[in-house]
Amino acid sequence: MESHRPLSSRLDSISPFHVMDILARAKTLESEGRHIVHMEVGEPDFPTPEPVRKAAADKLAEGHIHYTPALGLTSLRERISRYYKDRFSLEISLDCVGLSTGASGALQLLLAALLEPGDRVLMSDPGYPCNRHIVTLFGGSTSLIAVGAESRFQLTAEILAKNWRSGTKAVMLASPANPTGAIIPYQSMQEIYQLVSTQGAVLIVDEIYQGLTYGIEDYCAAEISPDIVVINSFSKYFGMTGWRLGWFLAPEWLLAAAEKIAQNLFLAPPTLAQYAALSAFHTETIEILEARKNEFAQRLDLMATELPSLGFELAGKPDGAFYLYADCHRLCGNSLQFCQQLLEHEGVAITPGIDFGSYQADAFVRFACTTEQSQLRLGLKRIKQFLASGAHAV
Ligand SMILES: Cc1ncc(COP(=O)(O)O)c(C=O)c1O
Repeated sequence: MESHRPLSSRLDSISPFHVMDILARAKTLESEGRHIVHMEVGEPDFPTPEPVRKAAADKLAEGHIHYTPALGLTSLRERISRYYKDRFSLEISLDCVGLSTGASGALQLLLAALLEPGDRVLMSDPGYPCNRHIVTLFGGSTSLIAVGAESRFQLTAEILAKNWRSGTKAVMLASPANPTGAIIPYQSMQEIYQLVSTQGAVLIVDEIYQGLTYGIEDYCAAEISPDIVVINSFSKYFGMTGWRLGWFLAPEWLLAAAEKIAQNLFLAPPTLAQYAALSAFHTETIEILEARKNEFAQRLDLMATELPSLGFELAGKPDGAFYLYADCHRLCGNSLQFCQQLLEHEGVAITPGIDFGSYQADAFVRFACTTEQSQLRLGLKRIKQFLASGAHAV
């Protein structure tokens, strides 16, 4: 007999990540001796840069790994503030920058601080799925607004105005976005901020892929207004996913509220990661990271050139990140099934559109260029074989 499981009903609207099932199946196949081309995982394949590891090793040897202040080491907050000054000529006061357990931790702190039960948060479909689940966990409700290739899968002020709902507390955007890599142009971001602030809502911009942009200058949304809440992380450009360290910029009133929540939820961001991250901005680290960025650009070029000849449609080259969100409707009617069959038949792991929302999800897949070019080429060859074999469901 099934035992009583008194779980919260909040879980009902939290869907699993299909890519985790794909990853788990890929690992099983690997353990059975199959070779898998991994294009499903959304994290850089490179090791943490050596200067960052060295800083961590030194701190570890010294042994004092204690709690830091709840919003992180002052020295690291200062270093982040200097990054904005150097890169975007932006003055960010220490009272407006806090560290967190990844961008994920920052989102939790901010949404816990902002949301009343039932408050609405608008975001795009497709979009990074965890964001909407975090909103739900904190009692908010999400309105996912369908966006397609016409707006490069990003929200605009016009689209937001058409879809505005009463009770909207916040709008969440990502630029560059996951799964598309599309950047919201500066002027469009200005128009969005104008609309959101006029409506008395908060604009939250996830800039976790900042630094990974190709042939296009990126900007920080806080250049438009210090009232825009910005989320960032050491995970992607800095290649430190497992260190679990992110940061956020917020007006003082919100930062103070987030600090109170951080003191209770996390006590402090990971200490060793913070000491390591102090070296993330050093010139020698940035040189390593820029070389990696060039490699990502080459991988994206390779995939963007080859995928259309296999029948995938792309809405241009991505501005940033390391993903390609490809329309596969000419190849299959159900992208989840397509991904599952591609993995089983050819050992190529990619992510189905359904992980990023429901709009046109059956017709899209995401390729993560997080493996070396020889592997990407092998993946393309296998996809060609798979399509030629007719094994895929049309
Ligand atoms: C758009 C976006 N935001 C946030 C995150 C979470 O990142 P972190 O590792 O900093 O928690 C991810 C991770 O893939 C992401 O793609």
